[in-house]
Order: sequence, then structure tokens, then C-alpha cells
Amino acid sequence: MILLDGKKTSNDIKDEITIKVAELKKKGRKTPHLAAIIVGANGASITYVNAKVKACEKVGFESTLVQLPEDVSEAELLSKIDELNNDDRIDGFIVQLPLPKHIDEHKVTLAVSPEKDVDGFHPENLGRMVLDLPCFLPATPYGIVQLLDRYDIETSGKDCVVIGRSHIVGSPMSILMARNNKVGNCTVTLTHSRTKNLIDYTKKADIIIVALGKAEFLTADMVKEGVVVVDVGITRVKDASRKSGFRLLGDVKFDEVAPKCSYITPVPGGVGPMTIASLMMNTLQAMDMK
Ligand code: GUN
Repeated sequence: MILLDGKKTSNDIKDEITIKVAELKKKGRKTPHLAAIIVGANGASITYVNAKVKACEKVGFESTLVQLPEDVSEAELLSKIDELNNDDRIDGFIVQLPLPKHIDEHKVTLAVSPEKDVDGFHPENLGRMVLDLPCFLPATPYGIVQLLDRYDIETSGKDCVVIGRSHIVGSPMSILMARNNKVGNCTVTLTHSRTKNLIDYTKKADIIIVALGKAEFLTADMVKEGVVVVDVGITRVKDASRKSGFRLLGDVKFDEVAPKCSYITPVPGGVGPMTIASLMMNTLQAMDMK
């Protein structure tokens, strides 16, 4: 069993970006600049956004954090988005999800200019992804593709089962694994809460990508020997023995599944850091496209 080390791989990518940023600066080009909007004080979201800001510092990007109160109106948020769309200093920006219930996430996604949509959530970017046109790929699926690519995992002709059909991960992942690319060319099955006898699919799968947000959902009896498992889950469970008061669990019962795997991502240190590296890649691309 080989661990797909997302922490190391994301550091490699960030080192590569650092070099590119230094080269750009030497050529007199502007420093890439990522902005992030966060609404409210969701603990996990704050952690993620802080990690994104820290990554910007590491690679030499500029960053701007826009913090809005939980009760900000939808109109105020849309107006902030418009401001960032029209700010030439900002190359790309994200609106951290989830948003409070009174704000329509779909409206927010549509409001972000596709040229600055480094999360790759805008329908224009998702449509371009389906058509294999240049676009911003959504950060988590892009990170998974990078991880599989850098570990030279053979995907062509393999049976890939994706568990979870979210717009952010499961659905785009199923498209990327099926397309005609080095990482791709799989026969993909996209499974979800209405799938009957999920085990019938997972047992036969060569590659399983689990993104449903249920701690330790995938168990050893559900997988075959030699499977590649990518765990996108990240659930906080109370743990009084930790300083933070919680620990992180993936969607995979790691201890029992890992021995059956050829490759598996750990949680933490697997997909999470790759998502951030992808966001940095997309921001560099956004600046380059200008
Ligand atoms: N919430 C969970 N994942 C993501 C992500 O990739 N981007 C944003 N903006 N919010 C998220």
C-alpha cells in the first residue's frame, strides 16, 4: 500500500509556483492576487480560508480576505462580488461555501466573473470543462487529478466509482475521470444516496473516489484487493484529548481499508492540501490569461 501524500505533492506544486511567480516578477509582470470572501464565522470555513491565505503568502501571491457578517444581505454580498469583478488588482477570487441560508448560492456563483472564477464553479467554466475547452477546473477535482497524475496511476480503461454527486466534487470528478486525458479514460459510475446495492459497484471498482461527507462510510468489505481509494471526506468529530477539541475523519474507514489498497489518500494530508495547491494554480492561470 502506498500513501498518496497530498501534503508533499501540494508542497511540490507550491514550490513550482513560487519559482514561476519569481520569474514573472523579474519580467516586470504584476504579482498574482487572490481574494477570498467569507461570510459568518463557520469554524471549518475560517480554517480553510486561512489555509488559502497562508498558501498565497508561501508562493509569493498577494491576498485579500473579505470578511462579511453572518447577517449580510444577499444584495450586499453581490455588490462586493461586483466590486472584485471590476478590480484590476484582483486576478481571481472565491466565495467560501457554505453560505448562510438566506443567501442563494446559485446567484452568488453566477455573479462571479468567469475570468476570475478560480474555484471553477461558474456554469461557463463547468460547461467548458465538459467540452474539454480551456477553463478553471474546480479545485478539489483538479487536485485529485494532479495527485493521480503525479503518482503515475494508470487510469485508462479502469472502472472508477465516484460516491457522491455534489456540484463541487462528485459530479465534476465523474466527468474528469471519463474524459480522454492522461488521467481519465475510465469507465465511470457516479453513485449517490439513491443507488441500490452500492457494494455491488464498489467491490468491482479499480478506483473509488469517496465524497459524501459521512465519516468512515467506506469499509473493507466494500472494496477489492489492489483498489485505489481517494478520500475527499473531512468530518470533525469531538475529541477531548486534542487541543482543538476535535479530530478529522475521512469518508473511509482508513485502518481496515488501507491494507487492501494499492494506493490511498490519508485524512488529513491527502486531498485537502491538493485543493489549495489547485487554487494557487488556477490563480496563476487567471493572471496569465490577462
Ligand atoms: N467549501 C468547501 N470546499 C470549497 C471550495 O473548494 N471552494 C469554496 N469556495 N468553498 C468550499
